[in-house]
Amino acid sequence: MAYFARDFQSVDDTPGAQRFVACLKLQQSLEFYHRYKAKTFEAMHLVAGASVLEVGCGTGDDAMALAQIVGPSGQVTAIDRSQTMLNEAIASTQPLALPIEFILADAQQLPFADHTFDGARVDRTLQHIADPAAVIAEMARVVRPGGWIVAMEPDWGTFVVNSTQRAITRQLLNVWCDSFPSGWVGRYLRQYLRQAGLTDIQVVPETLVITQFDLADQVFDLVQTAQATVEAGLVSSAEAQAWLSELQAFDRAQAFFSSFTGFIVSGQKEPAGLP
Ligand SMILES: C[S@@+](CC[C@H](N)C(=O)[O-])C[C@H]1O[C@@H](n2cnc3c(N)ncnc32)[C@H](O)[C@@H]1O
Repeated sequence: MAYFARDFQSVDDTPGAQRFVACLKLQQSLEFYHRYKAKTFEAMHLVAGASVLEVGCGTGDDAMALAQIVGPSGQVTAIDRSQTMLNEAIASTQPLALPIEFILADAQQLPFADHTFDGARVDRTLQHIADPAAVIAEMARVVRPGGWIVAMEPDWGTFVVNSTQRAITRQLLNVWCDSFPSGWVGRYLRQYLRQAGLTDIQVVPETLVITQFDLADQVFDLVQTAQATVEAGLVSSAEAQAWLSELQAFDRAQAFFSSFTGFIVSGQKEPAGLP
């Protein structure tokens, strides 16, 4: 079965790709995602008529939101390396006749000339890419001087659950974190934007708390992570089962807790004519 931490980098090659679509739709239904996404849109400093790039657009909902902001005289270009995701995005946006173009492309090699866009945004996609600094550099290249780049990425080193089994919890959460190509990207984002030559860099932390086991499992893949940790030979099957059972018991007692923090990091490309 698709494992979110590992397989979002290659959705089309993974059996059961619709599981990724369902995961994104579930996340978009949660208040946390609405709240932080609104902050990322604001950080783009977009005006009506602007041309904007959405990197790793998934099901296209954020491209739609950006299209509402830039209006009919603006243009949204949304790229993703998954045709499954693009098909989903095209199906939901086509009836709305919005100024959005969806393109199959790899974020690490953006198929656009220098200074094409007024701004560029990436959301929870760099975690799935082995060289996120290269993507930020590409985004900086295709944005015009004075434009803004905004990224929101988790740092899975911040992921916690209230298990009493510390050693086993560390093993499991490390497997989850290290199954991402870039599970620590959140803490490096500021550095990447700086290295790409951006200025006025702002960092805003955003924390998601989930207090229901089933919802946490759908977002954080807890059961599959337990399975992956057993398969890696790091815990026994009995230990993994006991770990899950304790958390489920906490859930029944309304005492389950899980959370992670992501970071919104924004920066401006130096306006032309300034040193
Ligand atoms: C967790 S989803 C986030 C989607 C969307 N940004 C959102 O907030 O709902 C990650 C997306 O990145 C895409 N992706 C992964 N690696 C990519 C790459 N190298 N280039 C472009 N897109 C990529 C996946 O296909 C998936 O749609």
